[in-house]
Amino acid sequence: MRVSSLALLALPFAAIVANCSSMPASPASDAGADSATPADTTHPMSIAGSTQRSGDPTKGYDALVNEGYVGCGMPWTAWSKAFASAPESQRLPGRRGHSEQLAYNVTAFKTPAGVEVVSPNCLSCHAAMLQGKLVVGLGNTDQDYTNDPAANASLAMFFLTEQAEKDELNKFVGRLKAVAPYTRTETIGVNPADNVAAVLFAHRDRKTLAWSDTPLLALPPKVVVPVDVPPWWRMSKKNAMFYTAAGRGDHGRIMTAASTLCVDSVDIARSIDAYFGDVRAYVASIKPPKYPFAIDEALAAKGRNVFGYNCSRCHGTYGDAPSYPNLLLPIADVGTDPALASGAAQFAGEYVTWFNESFFGETSNLRSENGYYAPPLDGIWATAPFLHNGSVPTIAALLESNTRPKYWTRTFDSSDYNAVALGWNFTALENGQDAEPDPAKRIRIYDTTKLGYAATGHTFGDALSAGDRTAVIEYLKTL
Ligand code: HEC
Ligand code: HEC
Repeated sequence: MRVSSLALLALPFAAIVANCSSMPASPASDAGADSATPADTTHPMSIAGSTQRSGDPTKGYDALVNEGYVGCGMPWTAWSKAFASAPESQRLPGRRGHSEQLAYNVTAFKTPAGVEVVSPNCLSCHAAMLQGKLVVGLGNTDQDYTNDPAANASLAMFFLTEQAEKDELNKFVGRLKAVAPYTRTETIGVNPADNVAAVLFAHRDRKTLAWSDTPLLALPPKVVVPVDVPPWWRMSKKNAMFYTAAGRGDHGRIMTAASTLCVDSVDIARSIDAYFGDVRAYVASIKPPKYPFAIDEALAAKGRNVFGYNCSRCHGTYGDAPSYPNLLLPIADVGTDPALASGAAQFAGEYVTWFNESFFGETSNLRSENGYYAPPLDGIWATAPFLHNGSVPTIAALLESNTRPKYWTRTFDSSDYNAVALGWNFTALENGQDAEPDPAKRIRIYDTTKLGYAATGHTFGDALSAGDRTAVIEYLKTL
C-alpha cells in the first residue's frame, strides 16, 4: 500500500490550492482589496498591485512545515505502521514532533478532534528535486495524477482500533473520494489543482464553510485542464497570483484556501489565516537557485541586448535596476493553449462568485481576464518544462516554435538536464498517447494534441537569428 497511498495523499492538495486560477470572474462579483477595472481582453494590461499584510518570513517557514492547515489526514497510528521514516535527504530543517522524521511533502499535526494525523502539505506540489537536491519553492513536475487516488487510503483502516481515529480516516477518505473523479491528468508531471478547487468550493456553504456531501453547486467538467506548478520565487514581483492573474487582493488569504479540503468552519479557517501573512512573506522571500554550470559571459552579455530588444517589454529587466511590468497578454496575442484562460468559463461564474462571497472574499478576490501573465524569468533555467501547461521541454524549443515536439517523453530524472537547450532532455516520439497500448508508457507521453496540452503560441523567438537565440539562452542562465 505504500506507493499508492502516497500518491493518493498528494492528490487532494491540488484541490486545495488550486483554488481557482482557471475560473474567470465576472467584474460584477469582484470584491476585496483590489478594484481593478473590468477586463480588456484585446490589449495587454498591466496588473495593479494590492497591499499585502506584513509578515515574518521565518515564522512563515515554520508554519508552512509544521502547522495543520490542511485540516485532516491519515492517523499517525496507521501512517507510522505503513511508512518508514524518510531518508535524511528528504527531510527539512526546523520541523517539530513527528514531522522531524517525515519527508518534506507531508506534515504531522493534531486535528481539532485531537487526533494526530499526517497530511500532504504545500510542498507536495511546491518543492522538487533538481540535480538530485531538494529545492523548496520549485514546482513539482513529476507527480503522477493519472490514477484514481481515492481507493487506497482507506486501506489504512486496517491499522486502526480507536473510533476517533477511524472517524478521522473516514473524513479524509471521503474528501479524497469527492475530488478523485476531477483530478485525473493525461500525463505525469502536470497538475490538476485548478480543477480540484472547484470541486471543494462546490461542496461547501459559502457563508459557513460547512461541508456538504451533496454538492451545492454544479460540479466542474471531469476533464482536467493541466497546469505546470509555477515556482514560488516569482511572487516577490507578481502583483497577482496564478497564470491568468486571477488571484487579487490579500495573497495570504488566497493561499489559505489550501484549507478547503478539510477545514469546515470559518472560525478554524480564520485561525489558519492568522499565520498566512507570515507564509506569504516567506513565499515572497524565496530566491531562485543559481545556475550550477559554466556560463559564457561574453555571449550572455550579447544575449542581454537581444533580450532587451525582444523580450523585456513583457518580461522586464534584470540586474542592477530591475523592472517588471506585470503584463497580462490576451490569449490572441500570446497564442498559447487557451483552455486554462477560457475553457473553464462555463462554470467560472459560479465558482468565482462562491469565492468572492465566502470568507476568502473578505480580503481577496478571484477574477480572470482571459489571458496569460508574462512571468518574471528569474531562475527560469530551473523550471522546465515551459508554458503554463508544461508543454515545451526546453527553452531552445520555446524560442524556435517549429522545433517543439508534438509528442515527447522524458526520464523524470532531475539530473537528466540539457544545459545547451536549457531544460529537460527529451525524446520526440512518432505517435501520441492513443497509439500507445502500455499504460505505464502512455502516461509518460506528453501529447500536445490533447485538450489543454497544446504547445502552440509564444512565437516571439522565431524571428531571432540562430546566433541571437543562442545568446539569449546564455543570458537566461544568469537570471
Ligand atoms: C496539489 C498541488 C498544490 C498544492 C498542495 C499547493 N499548490 Fe500552490 N499552486 C499549485 C498550482 C497548480 C498553481 C498554479 C495554478 C494556476 O496558476 O493556474 C499554484 C499556484 C500557487 C501560487 C501562485 C504562484 C504564481 O506565480 O502565480 C502560490 C503563491 C501558491 N500556489 C502557494 C501555495 C501555498 C502557500 C500552498 C499551501 C498552503 C499551496 N500553494 C499548495 C498547486 C498546488
Ligand atoms: C508580447 C509579450 C511577450 C514577449 C515579447 C515575450 N514573451 Fe515570453 N511569455 C509571454 C507570456 C504571456 C508568457 C506565458 C505564456 C503561457 O504560459 O501560456 C511567456 C512565457 C515565457 C517563458 C516560459 C515561462 C515559463 O515558466 O514557462 C519563457 C522562457 C519566455 N516567455 C521567454 C521569452 C523570451 C526569451 C522572449 C524574447 C525572445 C520572450 N519571452 C518574449 C509574453 C511574452
